[in-house]
Amino acid sequence: MSKQFWIATAAALAVTLGAAGAGWTFIVKPMRADAPLMPTYDVVDESGKIVGQYTVPSDDLIAKEPDAEAIMYGKRLLNETARLLPDNVGAGLNCNSCHLAQGKLDKGAPYINAYNFYPRVMPRAGKEVNLVMRINGCFQRSMNGKPLDPKSEEMTGMIAYMKWLGQGLPKEHMVKVEGAGKIDETLVPDPVNGQAVYAAQCAVCHGNDGEGKKDQFGDYTFPPLWGDDSFNIGAGMARTYKAAAFVKYNMPVSVHLDGTLGQGGVLTDQEAIDVSEYFTHMPRPDFAGKVKDWPTGKKPKDARY
Ligand code: HEC
Ligand code: HEC
Repeated sequence: MSKQFWIATAAALAVTLGAAGAGWTFIVKPMRADAPLMPTYDVVDESGKIVGQYTVPSDDLIAKEPDAEAIMYGKRLLNETARLLPDNVGAGLNCNSCHLAQGKLDKGAPYINAYNFYPRVMPRAGKEVNLVMRINGCFQRSMNGKPLDPKSEEMTGMIAYMKWLGQGLPKEHMVKVEGAGKIDETLVPDPVNGQAVYAAQCAVCHGNDGEGKKDQFGDYTFPPLWGDDSFNIGAGMARTYKAAAFVKYNMPVSVHLDGTLGQGGVLTDQEAIDVSEYFTHMPRPDFAGKVKDWPTGKKPKDARY
């Protein structure tokens, strides 16, 4: 018998007994049967020592913050980027099309550590990158668009949301979550098998031609995976093994009956790599800035140029 069944049964019993006015009440802790509890992770210092615990905050808590308005604006922009920032977004994507569950999901490209992690030296840029530059990198590559003015209300809002999600941890502390899961990079991709995996596991949502699916109001309900509305070849997601590490742990979504987004567990490493080789190499926009990438070498083997 499932956990959901017992919770529902206990709740129904409480209501029945209460209505019967039996003279005694038993209290059922309010609980949503459709969602797991907010996950908690270890917090580590620079040496990797566990120094505390972090619980992913609920959005209900934003209203208590002094800069609640900026955080809420940033949250909205990250969710509805294509609709709200058409001048900066060239793709049919929102930031949270890839940063799943508003950047709160382990292995689903979370924003949890983003505020503390930057500035840092990145091999692709060959120099120090701060959070503003990192976000604008995703605008230019993943969103195939244009950078935001670093001083704009929009940029300030997005950073305010990421800062809030970090919950004021000291700069040198990190929450033990990962951007992506592990994938065996020694496996050789087979795009022919990838096409078969795509047809069986992905096309139902992302479309037979990777074009995604729109609702009757013209908004994407399922984002595109290739074509003019997809990310460009400069995006991290355009690289086979990076995409595979995302796909294996997060796609296909919603196959889990407890309502959790992501968690994967459907594809093997080989299948995730095959399908990623297939969809990343389908036609997609070029990236003019590519000539400046990896100026000091260290170019990864799955780089597209
Ligand atoms: C097509 C998928 C995709 C989209 C859309 C996308 N990103 Fe990303 N983003 C990624 C991936 C993948 C990474 C990790 C890249 C890497 O490791 O090279 C990343 C990294 C980041 C990071 C660094 C996180 C960290 O902790 O290091 C930030 C911040 C970020 N993105 C913000 C944004 C914002 C803001 C937008 C919308 C303007 C956006 N992204 C749109 C895929 C995407
Ligand atoms: C049940 C529907 C469904 C299936 C099946 C599915 N996806 Fe997705 N996928 C989504 C949704 C929805 C999102 C956007 C998540 C969000 O907005 O929260 C997404 C996002 C993505 C993204 C990042 C955004 C983008 O468009 O570039 C990639 C890459 C992706 N899926 C690849 C795959 C692959 C590969 C498969 C097959 C193994 C697959 N998906 C199967 C629904 C699905």
